[in-house]
Amino acid sequence: AETLAKLRMGRADDLLTTLCLATDKPIMLAPAMNRLMWSNAATQDNVLVLKQRGFTLLEPAEGEQACGEVGAGRMPEPLAIFNAVVAFQTKFQEQQKQTDQAWSNAKSFWLGKKLLITAGPTFEDIDPVRFIGNRSSGKMGFAIADVATKLGAKVTLVAGPVQLATPVNVERINVRSALQMFDIVQTVYADADCFISAAAVADFRVAQPAEQKLKKQPGLDNMTLELVKNPDIVAWVSEQSDKPFVVGFAAETQNVIEYAKDKLKRKNLDMICANQVGEFQGFEQNDNALTLITETEEVVQSLSSKTQQAIALLSFIAKQSF
Ligand code: CTP
Repeated sequence: AETLAKLRMGRADDLLTTLCLATDKPIMLAPAMNRLMWSNAATQDNVLVLKQRGFTLLEPAEGEQACGEVGAGRMPEPLAIFNAVVAFQTKFQEQQKQTDQAWSNAKSFWLGKKLLITAGPTFEDIDPVRFIGNRSSGKMGFAIADVATKLGAKVTLVAGPVQLATPVNVERINVRSALQMFDIVQTVYADADCFISAAAVADFRVAQPAEQKLKKQPGLDNMTLELVKNPDIVAWVSEQSDKPFVVGFAAETQNVIEYAKDKLKRKNLDMICANQVGEFQGFEQNDNALTLITETEEVVQSLSSKTQQAIALLSFIAKQSF
């Protein structure tokens, strides 16, 4: 419990936590402790945060504990830990091999290319204190920007309202609403070799945002907001005669591939990245599983970090001729 708490804080006051802080390798945790320590809200919260940061957890076993109590928190059998470590390492090494391959494929292609990316949600104001937004974290678009610059591309990142650090050497332009994002894209798209539309752009905005904060009306139990359609940014870029290579995203909760293929056609995109979103996948997560789709190809990427997905995606684009 103590070590989990220290890892969550990013502390490094002993050898173990120092090593964990000073590595870029994946880390697997196999905690064991008294059942009440394990079920304590503080410990569970630490575990949740560590999982979100990419730590892999081997759940403790249930049964008799060293202290004499019975419950969840017991150390799993050593053989179970050993098998889990071997499986974890094999999976990591396979992913690493694929990533290294994708990286070397992509490097010569992206060097000097100009890439325009939109990322994050857009916020559509209702009044000065309220807005309509969505759960996009921007992490996927930011990971693509980060990887692309490391591959030698010149990246412009048009970011909706997100709390993420700007990747080194990326030119970032912050926007809030879909109209602001559209404005910027219209002025800069012509300079790009490739446009990746990873933003979760609001399809509608409030027709007439109020200038003052809206107040409840006594006796009125319903309220109606009039919404008008926002411009479709990625579809607009695809319509231009001097359009770059255009890549869209399709975040779906069901019929993922079918809906994505429909969007590819309808918006006249060169490629679309489909992903299943839901309670435990896609939005706000560090891991993602994309299916990369063109008119003639369909490649499934298994679940991995958004950075690994970005490398695979940029390597896939590098194989398309444009
Ligand atoms: N997109 C955009 N401008 C919009 C809306 C979406 O550029 N006004 C882009 C997104 O960046 C993404 C793709 O279009 O690349 C998503 O397609 P879309 O049909 O808008 O997806 P949804 O909003 O999920 O729409 P639907 O309700 O049709 O599934």
